[in-house]
Amino acid sequence: MENKQLLAFTRTFGCRGNVTDGEKINGMLAKMGYGFTRNQDEADLILFNTCAVRENAETRVFGNVGSLIHHKRRNRDLIVVVCGCMVQKEDTAEKLRQTFPFVDLVFGTHVIHKFPEMLERFKETRKRIIDISENHEITEMFENMPVRRESKLKADVPVMYGCDNYCSYCVVPYVRGRERSRNPDVILGEIRDLITDGVKEIMLLGQNVNSYSHGFPRLLHEIDTIPGEFRVFYMTSHPKDLSHELIDVIADSKKISHHLHLPVQSGSNRILQLMNRGYTVEQYLETIDYARKRIPKISLTTDIIVGFPGENRADFEKTLELIRKARFDSAYTFIYSKRDGTKAANLPDPISKEEKSTWFSEMLDVLDEVSGDAYSRYVGETLRVLCEGEGRAGCAYSGRSREGIIVDFNCDNMNNIGEFVDIKIKEALKWAVKGTVTKHGSN
Ligand code: 5AD
Ligand code: SF4
Repeated sequence: MENKQLLAFTRTFGCRGNVTDGEKINGMLAKMGYGFTRNQDEADLILFNTCAVRENAETRVFGNVGSLIHHKRRNRDLIVVVCGCMVQKEDTAEKLRQTFPFVDLVFGTHVIHKFPEMLERFKETRKRIIDISENHEITEMFENMPVRRESKLKADVPVMYGCDNYCSYCVVPYVRGRERSRNPDVILGEIRDLITDGVKEIMLLGQNVNSYSHGFPRLLHEIDTIPGEFRVFYMTSHPKDLSHELIDVIADSKKISHHLHLPVQSGSNRILQLMNRGYTVEQYLETIDYARKRIPKISLTTDIIVGFPGENRADFEKTLELIRKARFDSAYTFIYSKRDGTKAANLPDPISKEEKSTWFSEMLDVLDEVSGDAYSRYVGETLRVLCEGEGRAGCAYSGRSREGIIVDFNCDNMNNIGEFVDIKIKEALKWAVKGTVTKHGSN
């Protein structure tokens, strides 16, 4: 009988950090000889790489895992794997263990490098394996792992793992462990190799890149000196550690993006303190004022949580006031989700779900008001755009500018996806801008 290639269906939930882990997991599977499918029915292995940041992320995963029982009944040899942040929490690992006996392999965020070994062991013994052991020392083991990237143009490069900030609502420090920064020479080497391979956009990743222990401004400066036209985005920045020095380095750079994602979370100093964020609204506004002064075209986005325990109407209105002052280009908005084991989970939380939902809609209206025509400031400007693919709204092509803004455009003789072009902006939409080419190719 011919030896059919085994197929894996893998799905990653959650943030870009988790996506990077997913690419490593896919890299390991490819190295073990697996092919990939988007159809669960034909898969020999189904893997969910999970997120724990909010309850609805977990509910989705439980729903997805639960439905696998039918696949498992049809195909006894199917291997079911659940990994990532959610299983690093003991309560959810326990729930998986008890509720879903057909899950064969469960492993946490600290041991993804052991996945091939666990999978082999499972295949030999057919005994379920659960490994959520912790190791806070490591970064070395994450180096030199095979990676299967989704894109040829873009690559994510972690600069650090874990988080030490302990924002009182957040589960990340518990499931991702202590902050560990990667060696700058390793990062620079990796980026040089990616650029040589034709990658045009690098996303530097960390829960708080500004506390990179070897100096984030210096790292950015050194990346900026690597030859070739490419672009560097980074996330996430923490307002308490975002220095003027860093803003200066970005302003003086050629390749570092002019998009700043700076999660503010709340506009009330009392709530920021309860959140353990380490800055005040006034400090936040001073930082963004400085960034806008040094980098006039900068695009600013944020994260906001509504309904933190103890937040009252007056606090909430301060958040609305801050949105109006900061004039964010867009915001990721969340209703507070209680995470067991975090400090905020023990705080009194008297405001009802309904009231929080009303506040939430009210906030979306205010965000709409300030960001609805925010991009009109780019009309008449020329933005340099990396062409990434087909456009929308009557445009042939689409890409993103150095500010991280989606730019749709027409062009008669476009040769390559992956080319940089100068686009004169003619029209601003809510989520994108439209324009026409003025110049092709490298500077
Ligand atoms: N509830 C609601 N939102 C949360 N976030 C993190 N933890 C929670 C939580 N428990 C949001 C924050 C963070 C983003 C990634 O997710 O706004 O910046
Ligand atoms: Fe969570 Fe705060 Fe760390 Fe971000 S900085 S991952 S919100 S603890």
